[in-house]
Amino acid sequence: MELTSIQQSMLNGEHGEAVQQSMEILVALGKIYGADGMVPVSSAQIAGVSYKTIGEAGLEYLSDLAKKGAKVKIPTFLNPAGMDREQWQKMGVPADFAKRQMAVLDAFASMGISMSCTCTPYYIGIRPKVGEHVAWAESSAVSFCNSVLGARTNREGGPSALAAAICGFTPNYGFHLDEKRACGLVIDVRAPLKTNADFGALGAWAGQLAKHRNPAFSGIRKTAANEDMLKALGAAMAASGSVALFNVEGITPEYKVVDGAEKVTFAADDLLASRRSLTSSDTPPQLIAIGCPHASIDEIKEVAEKVKGKRVAHQLWVCTAKETKEKADALGYTSTIEAAGGLVVADTCMVVCPLKEMGFTTTACNSGKAAKYLASLQGQKVVYGDVEDILCK
Ligand code: F3S
Repeated sequence: MELTSIQQSMLNGEHGEAVQQSMEILVALGKIYGADGMVPVSSAQIAGVSYKTIGEAGLEYLSDLAKKGAKVKIPTFLNPAGMDREQWQKMGVPADFAKRQMAVLDAFASMGISMSCTCTPYYIGIRPKVGEHVAWAESSAVSFCNSVLGARTNREGGPSALAAAICGFTPNYGFHLDEKRACGLVIDVRAPLKTNADFGALGAWAGQLAKHRNPAFSGIRKTAANEDMLKALGAAMAASGSVALFNVEGITPEYKVVDGAEKVTFAADDLLASRRSLTSSDTPPQLIAIGCPHASIDEIKEVAEKVKGKRVAHQLWVCTAKETKEKADALGYTSTIEAAGGLVVADTCMVVCPLKEMGFTTTACNSGKAAKYLASLQGQKVVYGDVEDILCK
């Protein structure tokens, strides 16, 4: 693997211990995956932010790196944390958890990382261009970045994304290369898709089928799929399979299919069956959680319009980025949702907060990704449906 003189000097320790340690991670990764060298990256997104996910060992690792003087060189932002930093008490997060979560965030802040904790950086102005190289970690953000934006990132782990942020480079392999971006499975969508929950159900189905292939979709009309829906599709595929890139004919900037790709059809029956498979409870939820991936301002508006002048029967969270919440505050959506008994929560989500410890056992959602992870990581029974359905359960 070829290193430039500056990269070699980083590896030799001439830029300090934290840079050296980070370069060692990147070089080791590059060797494992056969990279020919490093590629500069314009932004990084760090996963492994919630104390629930990283625990004491993660906190120690970050504090140690911070003590060694680690500083990021490129715009770097965080994945959702385990709580809303301002509203954690309203959410019911235990105080001890909150203290440890704040210590994690303090370590990141001392490295110069933006305190925006979101999996939808592309809704708050961080939108790399077609072909631009970045090092993002959260699986739905990675999928959106590669597929909808046409930028290039591997599905980084927390330490490798942080190492890329500290050094400004990532090893040149995987989705940074043209040859890894073609699709080996074509899904002809015949089912009528109308909502995020429909796209999430398609994603849950397609992710399982894709295995390690990039899926391509035909039959989805441009006018019938907005960015929120493509976000829902990619997130569900990342959770049910390990899909980090997909193409949609006539919509995504790339549409490349390999010769001999398998072709399958997604029919109305498949949609129904997939939606059913994401539901594991027929009893009413204790919590309705919307915003996986983090809600756009349009999605928050939709919730506000549906609950205006009503009282929601269960706890309701709409999870979003802090910057998007500020817009929702200014437009009056937050106060409408609060008047109905709900909360717009920033910097966190239903999957990475300590949901079980907070006493929830049944959660409703409209996200294929959340449905998968609420069941497998949070031990929840799940009610799956469109926003309208789950608000009225
Ligand atoms: Fe984002 Fe949490 Fe879903 S990180 S993609 S809202 S599981």
